[in-house]
Amino acid sequence: MTAILVAGGAGYVGSHTVVKLLEKNQKVIIADDFSHSNLAVISAIQAITGQSVKSYRADLTQLEEVKKIFDENEISGVINLAGYKSVGESSQMPLHYYRNNLEIMLNLLTVMEEYDVYRLVFSSSATVYGNPKELPVKESAQRKPTNTYGRTKVMIEQILQDLAESDSRWRFISLRFFNPLGAHKSSNLGEDPNGLPNNLAPYITQVAIGKLPKLQIYGHDFPTPDGTSVRDYLHIDDLAAGHVAAMNNLLDSQDETSRFEAINLGSGKGYSVLEILQAFEEAIGKKIPFDYTEKRLGDTAESFASIEKAKRVLDWVPTYTIEEMCQDTWHWQLKHPNGYDNE
Ligand code: UD1
Repeated sequence: MTAILVAGGAGYVGSHTVVKLLEKNQKVIIADDFSHSNLAVISAIQAITGQSVKSYRADLTQLEEVKKIFDENEISGVINLAGYKSVGESSQMPLHYYRNNLEIMLNLLTVMEEYDVYRLVFSSSATVYGNPKELPVKESAQRKPTNTYGRTKVMIEQILQDLAESDSRWRFISLRFFNPLGAHKSSNLGEDPNGLPNNLAPYITQVAIGKLPKLQIYGHDFPTPDGTSVRDYLHIDDLAAGHVAAMNNLLDSQDETSRFEAINLGSGKGYSVLEILQAFEEAIGKKIPFDYTEKRLGDTAESFASIEKAKRVLDWVPTYTIEEMCQDTWHWQLKHPNGYDNE
């Protein structure tokens, strides 16, 4: 049986995607450098699925390390979730971000070509749209990211487009996902940020367990109904299902022509920071203290996805409510107050 290589398979999105693939009886190989993820993820995946999974601690910026994986396994498709993703850090260390994210992708593509593997799902981001002019955001919207991290995503998409044009064997789906929330229903896989969380949900739950004093809400005079910024949140389990649907779509594809498709994954609905805070307060059963502070540089007032293309092309629909997303995030945090480090 051939395997799907999941690059970055020990991360938040990667680990949930691996579980979904294993549940669909796919053979999976994980490659991760574990710089922003934890080895405990592998045993959690195995405990959840009851299956063993082969994993490589590999630096995918090194061509030889990528080759070794293809040499030792029969791979039919690749899902690439490996890359740095901190917006703030990307602006301080652009070279580090461009080198890492682009080299990983270029190495994977080079070795894929060498081994005749032409199916790849890329984890892109809604950040490619920057400040969207029209809502809901369609895939045809202009790509104009406001930060370096986002530009690494656009550049990689461009590389994939150029390859698809150059050789009819390539099939690519670039998943532009919005804001993932939640955790596995076992509460044994979840988001485990290094240090101070940048994102809203882990910040809220760390305030709730007493690790942080207060939430800072970035801005309250956005042109939105309650003045706080609006985003599209989707459950990590739905996002993982979207990755599996995209991979299967490529593997089943009978088209003779190459493809590059960008597809949004989101819930298609917008929630303000105050609405998310309220949903968390209900899930947790207590009030979360907060202050309003200055807007964060580059933050847009409102962004939510058009998910018509995902429905049409992938037959994918989001299935979780915002309440479930908050409950699952909270249950993971409660069970693992220090993330994977307390294992
Ligand atoms: C951010 C990144 C995006 C990245 C995504 C990954 C920016 C500009 N965008 O999206 O590129 O793909 O994370 O998950 O950084 N908020 C607060 N207080 C906080 C944290 C966040 O009020 O402590 C607000 C933000 O202003 C925003 C919302 O909560 O309106 C969600 O923020 P966040 O979780 O950081 O996601 P994005 O900014 O949408």
